[in-house]
Amino acid sequence: MILSANEAHIAQAAQALRDGQLVGLPTETVYGLAANATDDAAVAKIFVAKGRPSDHPLIVHVASQDQVPLFAAQVPDFAQKLLQTFWPGPLTLILPRQSGVATASAGGQDSIGLRCPSHPVAQALLQAGLPLGVLGVSAPSANRFGRVSPTTAAHVQSELGSDLLILDGGDCEVGIESTIIDCTRGEPVLLRPGHITRVQIEAACGRAVRGKDAPQEVSGQAAPRASGTLESHYAPRAKVRLMTAQDITAKLQALGPHANNLGLWSKERPSGSDGAGVVWRAQPQSAEQAAHDLFGVLRDLDARGVTQIWVQLPPDTPEWEGVRDRLQRAAA
Ligand code: TXA
Ligand code: MG
Repeated sequence: MILSANEAHIAQAAQALRDGQLVGLPTETVYGLAANATDDAAVAKIFVAKGRPSDHPLIVHVASQDQVPLFAAQVPDFAQKLLQTFWPGPLTLILPRQSGVATASAGGQDSIGLRCPSHPVAQALLQAGLPLGVLGVSAPSANRFGRVSPTTAAHVQSELGSDLLILDGGDCEVGIESTIIDCTRGEPVLLRPGHITRVQIEAACGRAVRGKDAPQEVSGQAAPRASGTLESHYAPRAKVRLMTAQDITAKLQALGPHANNLGLWSKERPSGSDGAGVVWRAQPQSAEQAAHDLFGVLRDLDARGVTQIWVQLPPDTPEWEGVRDRLQRAAA
């Protein structure tokens, strides 16, 4: 059931977390499916509800920097600078885990993903949990495994059903999941691009950001698994194809009146796209607005029953890295 995020409902949701139940949680990035991070049995329910393999670690959401030492054994200097600069906000840091804490959430890793969300409803819920002993909240995106992340309360309900208590925090401002930086390898490693770009990360900590294949200098174990980094992910039912604007126009022309069940997401409306078989959505000029719209557009086109979605691939620049990453996975 979807509940307006007033004080009474936030208190009710905090109590539900305390009691080992799941809650649909609005954040500034996407909606999460939340459980008490230190309650392994509650966290296990997340994996079941999502249909997600239980060895895929979940992000733990905390109210503030004060909770970091409860979950992380150590915070390197560069990570400290990152959380000082970007928290609360859409940045997740992978840190060495305090042993014995949030074991189920970590999915067997000796590291832990921590994020302090800025959404006022997420903040209020995390604060309300503290006096009840809910010190952090594990929350992957509130979608079935491998599907498009939800950016409204209604999306969450359509993914996970109406038994789930969902706090309505409105439309998510960022629209794609947080940037993830692995801080366990002695240098910042970008695991998942997002709204906070690698250029901003480098400026904030004064260190070069490495790619996912950077060596494991510190822990020497296998690279942490990140389900958001699986090649095929964020997929709508329709088949997604990434194309240039010229390609879209040429292929539309070739199809002519036979274009059918086709969705388009491009900057300009191409000629030949006004037939009944084509649904066009405008792709915003700014990367921020495109990220905000992306998952909603994929969901909306799916709901209209299109079988293919042709997307104009945005430029290969740092600010578009997050959107391009999600599009490439949706198309894989
Ligand atoms: O924006 C977000 O980060 C959203 C909202 C709800 O906060 N959450 C989210 O969670 O995207 P999820 O579980 O869908 O993605 C979390 C990613 C996964 O790819 C997971 O494997 C990775 O973070 N992750 C979490 N803990 C990790 C760890 N200890 N080591 C490596 N990767 C980790
Ligand atoms: Mg996800």
